[in-house]
Amino acid sequence: MRARFGDGTLLLVTQGFIARHGDGKTAILGRGGSDTSAAYFGALLGAQRVEIWTDVPGMFSANPRQVPDARLLSRLDYEEAQEIATTGAKVLHPRCIHPCRDANVPIWIRDTMHPQMEGTVIGRDAATVPGVKAISSRRGIVLVAMETIGMWQQVGFLADTFERFKRHGLSVDLIGSSETNVTVSLDPSDNLVNSNVLEALCADLSEVCRVKVIGPCAAITLVGRGMRSLLHKLGDVWAEFGRERVHLISQSSNDLNLTFVVDEALLDQDGPSGTMARLHALLIASGAMPVDETAVFGPSWRALHADDSPRAAPWWRAQRAALLELAAHGTPRYAYHLPTVREHARALAALPAIDRRFYALKANPHGAILRTLETEGYGFECVSGGELAHLFAALPGLDPQRVLFTPSFATRGEYADAVARGVRITLDSTFPLVHWPELFRGRDLILRIDPGFGHGHHEKVRTGGKDAKFGLDPDALPIFQSAAKAIGARIVGLHAHIGSGIAESSHWAEVHARLASLADAIGTVSTIDVGGGLGVPYEPDAAPFDLGSYGAALAEIKAAYPQYALWVEPGRWLVAQCGVLLTHATQSVEKSGVRRLGLDAGMHTLLRPALYGAFHQIVNLSRLDDAETALFDVVGPICESGDVLGRRRKLPAATSGGDVLLIADAGAYGASMASNYNLRGLPGECVLDGSAPDGGAQ
Ligand code: LLP
Repeated sequence: MRARFGDGTLLLVTQGFIARHGDGKTAILGRGGSDTSAAYFGALLGAQRVEIWTDVPGMFSANPRQVPDARLLSRLDYEEAQEIATTGAKVLHPRCIHPCRDANVPIWIRDTMHPQMEGTVIGRDAATVPGVKAISSRRGIVLVAMETIGMWQQVGFLADTFERFKRHGLSVDLIGSSETNVTVSLDPSDNLVNSNVLEALCADLSEVCRVKVIGPCAAITLVGRGMRSLLHKLGDVWAEFGRERVHLISQSSNDLNLTFVVDEALLDQDGPSGTMARLHALLIASGAMPVDETAVFGPSWRALHADDSPRAAPWWRAQRAALLELAAHGTPRYAYHLPTVREHARALAALPAIDRRFYALKANPHGAILRTLETEGYGFECVSGGELAHLFAALPGLDPQRVLFTPSFATRGEYADAVARGVRITLDSTFPLVHWPELFRGRDLILRIDPGFGHGHHEKVRTGGKDAKFGLDPDALPIFQSAAKAIGARIVGLHAHIGSGIAESSHWAEVHARLASLADAIGTVSTIDVGGGLGVPYEPDAAPFDLGSYGAALAEIKAAYPQYALWVEPGRWLVAQCGVLLTHATQSVEKSGVRRLGLDAGMHTLLRPALYGAFHQIVNLSRLDDAETALFDVVGPICESGDVLGRRRKLPAATSGGDVLLIADAGAYGASMASNYNLRGLPGECVLDGSAPDGGAQ
C-alpha cells in the first residue's frame, strides 16, 4: 500500500453504501452497496479502472460450491458480467455494472487473500467470441401458469393479467406463451413471494383465466454471447434435461442468455455428480463450445485451492524412459502399470464392509491385469459369452464360483454357456425364466433390480431409472418370484449397478438400503451386490474418489443389515490410472487460427472423448519438461469431425510430428472399446511391472 501510494499522491479514503432518497434525505444502500458506490465514483471521476477487492478472485463459470471445477472468468464484457450477476453470481451487485459501462471504466475484481492474482477484468475490450461462459442457477423460483381458451386472438389478455401482478407488487421475470397458455416466473430475489401473496394473486387471476402455481422451481441459465448460433451444439444439454421436467425455456433477445426452469430438487445435489457440475462438464470443461480458452478462462477453483489437497505424481512420470522405449516399438500402444493395479486392488480390499470384490473385466480384459487381480483375491464380473471364454482361457484353473455373469439382453446360448460353466448367474427380467425355464430349473439366481435412479459421468453410462434398459422394476418382483418358484429356482442375491464414473461416494449406501429392504421381503437372499461405478479423477486438478467415505457409508449400512454379505464389482477404478496410451504425433497444422496436432491414435484407439466428451490429460512425453505454452486441438486420423482427443490443450510450443504423446488414465475402457474403424488396426498393449518394462505388443 505504502509502495503504491506513498509518493505524495493525494489519497482520498471514502465510505460506500451512501445514497440519497428521492426526497433528498440520506439513505444507506444494502447488499452490494460498496460496489455500487465505487462504480459511481469511478464513473464520475472517469477513472482508469474500478478495483473491487473481495474474498474471491473474481467471477467464475459456475458457483464453485456446486461446481469445484468452475473456471475463473478472466475477461468479460459489461453485458456478460451484468447477465451473470443478475442470474445468480453473488460476487458483484448487478447494479454496479451499468455506471462503469456507461462511462467505459473497466472493473477489476481482485482477491484480498491472493493479491497477486489477476482476477476478473470487465471491460469493453473483452474478446467477443461466441460460447457459453457461465452457468448459473437461482432457487426458489415460482411459476404461474395461466390458461384460458378465451385468450386466443383476444386483445389485452396479457395487459389484463400483468396488471394483476402489478397490483400485488410482483415483478415478472421469464415468460413463455402459447395460444392458450402463458407461464411466467417470479424470482424471490425481486419479489416477496409468500403463500399469502400467491393466494391473493391466484384469486385475482382466476377471474380471467385458470391458474396453476408450480414450485419450488429453479432457473438454470447459460450465459454467453451468440447463444442463438450455438443451439445446435446443445444436444448434450437437451439429453441432460431429457429425463427431467423442464417447465419453461426462455432465450433472451440480446442473445446472451438461455434459461431453463426445472424442479428445484434437480439442484439438491452439489459436487461433481450434481446437475450443475454435469452441465458445466458438458459445456465448459469439455471444451465443446468455441470460446477462445485463454482469452476467457483462468484456472479452476479447484486448481486455485490445489495446495489444500496435493495429488501424488502419476507413475508414468518416473517411467518416462521406459515408456519412450516402448513407444519406439510402434504406436498407438497402451501400456499398463501393474503396481498401480495392485495398489488400487489393495486399497479397496482394505475396506472391511465389503465381503467380496469382483473385477468388471469389460474395463480392461488384458491377461496380465486379470492374473494380477486373481492373485489379489478378486473374483470377476462378465457380461458376455465372449468375456467368459476369454476369462477362463486367461485363468484356466479359476473357480467358477468366483465369476458373476451379469449380461444385458443376452442370448439363450450365452446363458446356456454360463450355466454349463457353473458361474453365478444374474437375471434382470422375468423373460429368461419364462421362456427358457429348462436353463434355470432348481438353480440359485441373482436378481438385478432397478433401484429407480442412476448416476454416472455421462447420460450414456447411467444404468438405473425408468429410462434405462437394466434391472427389474421392484413392482414386478412378485411376478419374478412366482416364475422362479414355478421352476424351483431361488433368489439368493440382489444386485444393482446404477452407472459408471460416479464421483460422489454416498450413492451406494442408498442402493444397498433399497436392495436390503427388498431382500427382507424375499427371504432367501444372502448377498447384496451394489455394482461398480467408482469414479476416477481425470482432470489433473480433480479430487480423487473418496474411498474412505465410500467405505464408511457402506460400513454404516452394512451394520444395519449384517445378515447380507456385501459384494462390489468395480471396473474403472481398479485400472483407469494404471494405463496410458502412447502415440506419435504425425503432423501439426494451422487452419483458420486453430492449431491442430495430429496423432496416430484417434477415436478408433480411445473412443471415450468422442463418445462421452470425456477428458483425458495429454502430455508431450518427448518434451515433458518444456513449458506448455501453445494451444492445440489434438486430433486423430479418422474421417469424422468427432475424432478429437482433446480440445485447446496446452503443450510445448515446439510440439510437432515425431514427438511421443501420452494420454493419461486410459487403462479403463480404452483398449477394450477400440475398433478397427477405417481399417486402421487395433492398438498394441504392453505391461510394465515394477521398474522394468515387461513384454512388447500382445
Ligand atoms: N457392473 C455392471 C453390471 C456394469 O455394467 C459395469 C459397467 C460395471 C459393473 C463396472 O462399472 P465401473 O466400475 O467400471 O464404472 N464405457 C464407459 C463405461 C461403461 C460402463 C458399463 N458398465 C466409459 O468409458 O466411461
